Amino acid sequence: MEPVKVAIIYYSSTGNVHALAKAAAEGAEKAGAEVRLRKVAELAPPAAISANPVWGHHLQDTANVAEASVEDLAWADAALFGTPTRYGSPASQLRALIDGTASLWREGKLADKVYSAFTASGTAHGGQESTLLALGNTFYHWGGIIVPPGYTDPIQFKLGNPYGTSHVAAGGPPDDVALEAARFQARRVVDIAAALKAGRIR
Ligand SMILES: Cc1cc2nc3c(=O)[nH]c(=O)nc-3n(C[C@H](O)[C@H](O)[C@H](O)COP(=O)(O)O)c2cc1C
Repeated sequence: MEPVKVAIIYYSSTGNVHALAKAAAEGAEKAGAEVRLRKVAELAPPAAISANPVWGHHLQDTANVAEASVEDLAWADAALFGTPTRYGSPASQLRALIDGTASLWREGKLADKVYSAFTASGTAHGGQESTLLALGNTFYHWGGIIVPPGYTDPIQFKLGNPYGTSHVAAGGPPDDVALEAARFQARRVVDIAAALKAGRIR
């Protein structure tokens, strides 16, 4: 069987979600997947970006990361989406890519794929779960197979978020637990996508 194709599509202003996305890419690759790590296009005005030096630096530091397109979703057997929590919801930059998928959706090309999501927020109760669940709404519309991490590995009892990997950024960049959880989440996505791919009859 061909390797599972995994698209890891993320938005990050200040690097936290980017770090989780890289860990997820490592986990997926280690599980044998062919991986596309893709950032979505930055849509914020230059004035907003320059008001936060960390944002500007992160933009420069990730200039060589390929930009996501809807074609990456058409290509993939499984996709992991990463976004900062923005007022308890996914970032508009990620939503803009998602809102460009109408043709693929209409053609049924987003159905029967495995989807999962991860996030970072400023505070512990700042809306990580609502953000992840909001992405889940889209996966339902696509006819996707939502694969959350649950508590299916010991790392999840340390992380404590069964909906998807999440990190509280106020305490600094993602620690070893969050990075390991992201690797695990991606591995689980690959394993389940591989089982589906092997058993696919059409
Ligand atoms: C416009 C805006 C809205 C935000 N909304 C929330 C929020 O609802 N809850 C929260 O805990 N943090 C919120 N934050 C903080 C971000 O979620 C947090 O900084 C996140 O870790 C950034 O991820 P990044 O480093 O990948 O960009 C918000 C930040 C911005 C700029």
